[in-house]
Amino acid sequence: MVKLAPSILSCDFARLGEELKAIESADWAHVDVMDGMFVPNISFGLPILSAARRVSSLYMDVHLMIEQPERYLKAFAEAGADGLTVQVESTKHIHRAVQQIRELGKRAGVTLNPGTPLEMIRPVLADVDVVLVMSVNPGFGGQKFIPESLERIKTVRRWLDEIGSAADLEVDGGVTAGNARAVVEAGANVLVAGSAVFGRDGAEAGLRRIREALQN
Ligand code: DX5
Ligand code: ZN
Repeated sequence: MVKLAPSILSCDFARLGEELKAIESADWAHVDVMDGMFVPNISFGLPILSAARRVSSLYMDVHLMIEQPERYLKAFAEAGADGLTVQVESTKHIHRAVQQIRELGKRAGVTLNPGTPLEMIRPVLADVDVVLVMSVNPGFGGQKFIPESLERIKTVRRWLDEIGSAADLEVDGGVTAGNARAVVEAGANVLVAGSAVFGRDGAEAGLRRIREALQN
């Protein structure tokens, strides 16, 4: 079963509670944390995650686009994350970061930018619960899916299968009803979507369009 993970980066923050209600039928809420250093944008941090946690029982899928994420893993775990995903480029010790997430009792994820060789994540593949393939350069919602990402998803799927890993393979950036099917066919089982869910006529309609695209 494919899981949908709407990214609240594209929601109306003045109506965070209602927006979270509107995506209740989804599987995960994707929470994009940006520090203005690792990526050229600042989004939000701990207080928004805590607020979301208070009003929603969705799995909180926290994507940390911050330098040296080790500094904040415990704080995000305590604020209500179910899964914590770190960028391989953001830490000198990816293996330690992954271990720390697991020691906190949370699901550990690793991700990488479109320009980073896939080999960078290979050493920790057996130690993670989630592999997130970025299909845009992180920092902003509403960008176009980078087509070369499909080959990268296929490669990661093959590597996970080879080691018998049941990790989720998640894809983030530019996912729409128009390409969701191709992304799943390449091997992904979790789709992040921000603007495609919240961007037009409400999150329920956005989610429905993606689900229909996956069924047809
Ligand atoms: C990009 C973020 C994404 C973003 C996706 O830096 O990591 O999660 O919210 O937004 P869309 O789906 O609009 O590309
Ligand atoms: Zn993200």
